[in-house]
Amino acid sequence: METVNASLNYLEDPAQRPVTYAYHPPEGVPARTGRYTRFTVPIHDARALVAQLSLDKQGVVLAHHETKVVNFYDPDEVRAKYYPEVERLVKELTGAVKVHVFDHNVRCKTMAKAGEKDVQEPVKVAHNDYTVKSGPQRVRDLLPDEADELLKNRFAVINVWRPIRGPVEENPLAVCDAQTIAQKDLVIHNLIYRDRMGEVYSLAFNPAHRWFYFPHMQKNEVMLLKCYDSDEHRARFTAHSAFDDPTSPPDAPPRESIEVRTLVFFPPGAE
Ligand code: OGA
Ligand code: FE
Repeated sequence: METVNASLNYLEDPAQRPVTYAYHPPEGVPARTGRYTRFTVPIHDARALVAQLSLDKQGVVLAHHETKVVNFYDPDEVRAKYYPEVERLVKELTGAVKVHVFDHNVRCKTMAKAGEKDVQEPVKVAHNDYTVKSGPQRVRDLLPDEADELLKNRFAVINVWRPIRGPVEENPLAVCDAQTIAQKDLVIHNLIYRDRMGEVYSLAFNPAHRWFYFPHMQKNEVMLLKCYDSDEHRARFTAHSAFDDPTSPPDAPPRESIEVRTLVFFPPGAE
């Protein structure tokens, strides 16, 4: 088992809530606040641990998954073909009664830098996509008619992350074992959209954090990453960050990946 040392960007001052505007902010208001600082941490190869990982403890699992999708950069194809595949996969792996796939991002540094529409760069900041508040808020926003009923039972937000092209050699995604994250490490970060306010967590440094990754992920491998759980006795917030892997060859092709966001509803009594 190989461990690499790599630097991750953590929030510098947990006392100051970062704010990011998703559009051009009003005159005199900065588009983003919050300073990040690099910490060098060990990132462990989790391939040998795959059988021991669980969504309820570490907050992440690796699974084999074949897809019929030909072009992940075609949002229509992704919605028509991949969303139903992901729904089925998440149901199988979690025992959920209902899975609602609602969003996705494709990432490739060179395409994003070339201005390719709707392609984003890897995120090199330690974060978690949802907070205590924004998890259930997403259900209310997306499924307003059913939300009250759905939120009576346990629910989670799970991201399904996979390479578009394998193996991933450059900028893999590191994941922080949810059991090693204290609530005080999770700092609310407001995302201001024109029509709504989002909330994610930025991560403040804590030497207890245990990071790992799956080296050389292939395109038939997916990572399920739990970004919210209504049950406080399970992994709730599994922070993650892209990083520069010191073992990746200098001429490695840029990482290409897709992550799909899913709302996951459990049967009554599963709490
Ligand atoms: C995610 C995420 C960043 C990346 O899947 O939620 O933050 O670089 N991904 O893939
Ligand atoms: Fe994320």
